[in-house]
Amino acid sequence: MGEEIFVSPKKRGRIAVFLSGRGSNFRAIHEAVTAGRINASISLVFSNVETAPGLLTARESGLEALYLNPKLFPSREEYDKQAIREIRKRDVDLVCLAGYMRILSPHFCREFKNRCMNIHPALLPSFPGLHVQKKAIDWGVRYSGATVHFVAEDVDMGPIILQAAVPVLQEDTEETLAARILVEEHKIYPHAVHLFFEGRIEVRGRRVFIRDA
Ligand code: GAR
Repeated sequence: MGEEIFVSPKKRGRIAVFLSGRGSNFRAIHEAVTAGRINASISLVFSNVETAPGLLTARESGLEALYLNPKLFPSREEYDKQAIREIRKRDVDLVCLAGYMRILSPHFCREFKNRCMNIHPALLPSFPGLHVQKKAIDWGVRYSGATVHFVAEDVDMGPIILQAAVPVLQEDTEETLAARILVEEHKIYPHAVHLFFEGRIEVRGRRVFIRDA
């Protein structure tokens, strides 16, 4: 059997943003949408945290903001199935995880293969998981950065779309490094979403090719 090739659709699309906190990456994507740099609209902002500031920002911006309480569902999969119903209702083409701090079920990952992106504050596959800026400093790496990748069942291990490197300085704290990485996150995440709806993202196995780069 030949290698499976996925090419992102060139169309005006619909996005769902999933977040659990501050929502600065959501705002960066929203700004790019509003400025016409992404050929899509945000159809839903979804959260597992009722008080997530990003959810409030979404509501204030006039976007549909939905909170689903995980405690009301018997399993991760049942929770995700309800999330999928909400997404499908709105005909969403791409899910953008933007600080969504809840692990997705394998079912969700399969349903949204190549249609769900995540931003991670390290140069994957180095430093997956949590508190990764501290881990990078403690390890002594000279560079860290940000990664936009497709979500796969292995957490933080899906195909890499874009990365940006930043130097790790001797005087860095977790906070100063996180802030330097965040500046890059806000550039590469909207750009990856832009490329997606331009039909320029091609996935072959683990590798992502940017068409007409
Ligand atoms: C961002 O730094 C993002 O990379 C990180 O959470 C932060 C969310 O900030 N995500 C992860 O660590 C996922 N593993 P934001 O709410 O301001 O976008």
